[in-house]
Amino acid sequence: MKDLKMNPNLSIRDGRLFIEEMDTVDIAEKFGTPLFVVSEKILVENYRAFQNSFQKYYPEGRIRVMAAVKANPTVAIRRLLSREGCGCDTFGMGELETALRGNVPYEDIAVNGSIKGPEIIEKAVDLGIPIILDNKDELDMCQEEAAKQGKTAKVLLRIKPYMKDLDEPSDFFPARLIRDMTQTVKYGIPTSEVLEMLPKFAKMPNVKLEGVHTHAGRHSKKPVFWKALVTSIVDMIKVIHDGVGNDWRPEIVSVGGGFPAEMDKETRVAVTDYETPHIEDFAQVVTGTFRDEMNRHGFSTDGIILEIEPGRAMYNESGIHLFKVHNMKHETAHGMDYQWAETDTSETFLSIGGLNVVPPFDLVSCNKADQPYDTKVDVVGITCNYDCLAEQTKMPQLEKGDILAFLNTGSYIEPYTCNFNALPRPGMVLVSGDTCEWVKMPETQDEVFSRHVVPERLK
Ligand SMILES: Cc1ncc(COP(=O)(O)O)c(C=O)c1O
Repeated sequence: MKDLKMNPNLSIRDGRLFIEEMDTVDIAEKFGTPLFVVSEKILVENYRAFQNSFQKYYPEGRIRVMAAVKANPTVAIRRLLSREGCGCDTFGMGELETALRGNVPYEDIAVNGSIKGPEIIEKAVDLGIPIILDNKDELDMCQEEAAKQGKTAKVLLRIKPYMKDLDEPSDFFPARLIRDMTQTVKYGIPTSEVLEMLPKFAKMPNVKLEGVHTHAGRHSKKPVFWKALVTSIVDMIKVIHDGVGNDWRPEIVSVGGGFPAEMDKETRVAVTDYETPHIEDFAQVVTGTFRDEMNRHGFSTDGIILEIEPGRAMYNESGIHLFKVHNMKHETAHGMDYQWAETDTSETFLSIGGLNVVPPFDLVSCNKADQPYDTKVDVVGITCNYDCLAEQTKMPQLEKGDILAFLNTGSYIEPYTCNFNALPRPGMVLVSGDTCEWVKMPETQDEVFSRHVVPERLK
């Protein structure tokens, strides 16, 4: 019997894995495999946990959860979060489109991104969507565009806070210090360039500096990291206040994302095997440090909107990936007793992304979930790659037709799928109670070739 402590929102009933009130085997039969499955209940509960925990410790202003669209950029998923009142961080034109199609109110969208072209600035200014400046030229582009439209561009500075006293290594690259990585990473405006920009605001009648933004990322689960991050953000707020003049104070402060997923089995983080604090712990340290540091610099926090941008922490446990065993192979020659279960999914659909030899997700047999997990097998994918999805892992004796599930695949997995071996990418369904509906259709073989062009001379 599989112990489901890695995701207590799932259940095993009569030997079958259930997500909410849906039997995963029925889902696989009806919608086909491989398939991404998202639970509405888990996602909404995760959002509410962030909203309520942070708001509880920040009575003086609004907590705005700006869920990172990139973790699951599916329009219907965005619609359901919009219904809940959840805002979003978007990166580039494509994700802005997801937010607009997902009915996110304009003021609850943030337009982030490297190399913002004139189109995205035009659109954001027109709709009154806050723009997170990532380089100094974008400030001039905003003033020019807003003047042309006779409007005001709302902007935030994406800063690179310097955590001078933090000696912690990064969970992404344990040989490197977070303090150094947050300075050398490409995103954010170099501090020296922020300083050059500050005097310009007074001369830009069509730009309103609404606040500051940063996103350091999932470098560490330790509260001490968040304390250092928020402290250094507030240090920069003081510098910006002094440089802008007119007693400027931010209306919005975003501390970005990087909160660990509760189960913390992630494809792109090297170090996850230490305690994951509760959301309430992050809420206390972020809001408490913000208030204390602002007060220390002589600022009140009253009325300031404090934003958080959880990605993995909100979406990860909301998703599972269903796939099917198509063949069994069993080697008994050369003194071996070695089994392979060949399945219809692949590492190219599971975003292994270099850091993991096999995906770190927990694996469950959907139709034999209550049987003993006592037979070693390599669960392998469909591509011509090594494609080992689970190596000599203990499963019930698998057979052709069995349905398997990787758990906690709700963040950053589906958006990274690709067409290696000209494979069509899987679709996605949304489960809500005892209903299950398509939210993204599986790609067809024709769609895989839809961008191919044969020049006339080769016809
Ligand atoms: C600006 C911004 N905010 C939020 C996030 C979400 O990060 P995470 O999934 O680590 O919470 C990202 C991820 O890259 C990001 O770039």
